[in-house]
Amino acid sequence: MNNELIEIIEGLKGYLSYLKMIGIKEIPVTTRVQGFKDSREQIKTNSCAIEPSPPPTLAPFNIELLKDIRNEIGDCRRCKLWHTRKNIVFGSGNPKAELVFVGEGPGEDEDIQGLPFVGRAGQKLTEIIEKGMGLKRKDVYICNVVKCRPPENREPEPDEVAACRPFLEKQIAAIKPKVIVTLGRPATATLLNSKRITISRIRGIWHEYESITEAEAIKIKLMPTYHPAYLLRNYTYEVRKQVHDDMKKVVEELRNG
Ligand code: URA
Repeated sequence: MNNELIEIIEGLKGYLSYLKMIGIKEIPVTTRVQGFKDSREQIKTNSCAIEPSPPPTLAPFNIELLKDIRNEIGDCRRCKLWHTRKNIVFGSGNPKAELVFVGEGPGEDEDIQGLPFVGRAGQKLTEIIEKGMGLKRKDVYICNVVKCRPPENREPEPDEVAACRPFLEKQIAAIKPKVIVTLGRPATATLLNSKRITISRIRGIWHEYESITEAEAIKIKLMPTYHPAYLLRNYTYEVRKQVHDDMKKVVEELRNG
């Protein structure tokens, strides 16, 4: 099968699961009338002749899904963080990324710019992605558990995580990456749905993310590692090596998995 065909099939699979996710269980079946040769010829749909629609543009499909999720968030006031935020930080990167990084929540720079990981921790993350993993930041997708900055950069509180979590789940369902890397304890605990984790114990070990809110059951490999801000505070050989080893496993999985 050539690459174009594989991409079309993947796109259709994504579109069908999206329809399922939003509750559409049936789609009208359109059959081409036998004997006609090209795509402009008459097609038959429930015995009505209609113009064939243009072939679906598959690459932007995930972009549309992400746009819908962003629109659903709107000018969000679902939790108290809206009082102090400047901007909602939705996420950025490649909507078709094989790798998604999830942090805990925007800091001051992110709040000002409306983009994730653009401050000091963001520079460290970019360095890990580009120098450490040999990838390009634009090719991965980066987002946070909560989309609004918690005041004083405190950890997001359970009600804030609960309000934002469905959007994170939808982002992941739209992108369907091969691998998720959770940065630090709060993001790991959220996506593993487990409050009692110690990041130093579970980092570097493959886990599985399972969607709990989507209609469609999704399972994605998840690698917890230290938050880049922790790395900045503890810039020791040991911590750097641990993050390096964790990301090496991710690169291997992306290559061979
Ligand atoms: N820390 C996070 O967890 N996310 C950001 O976007 C920036 C810093």
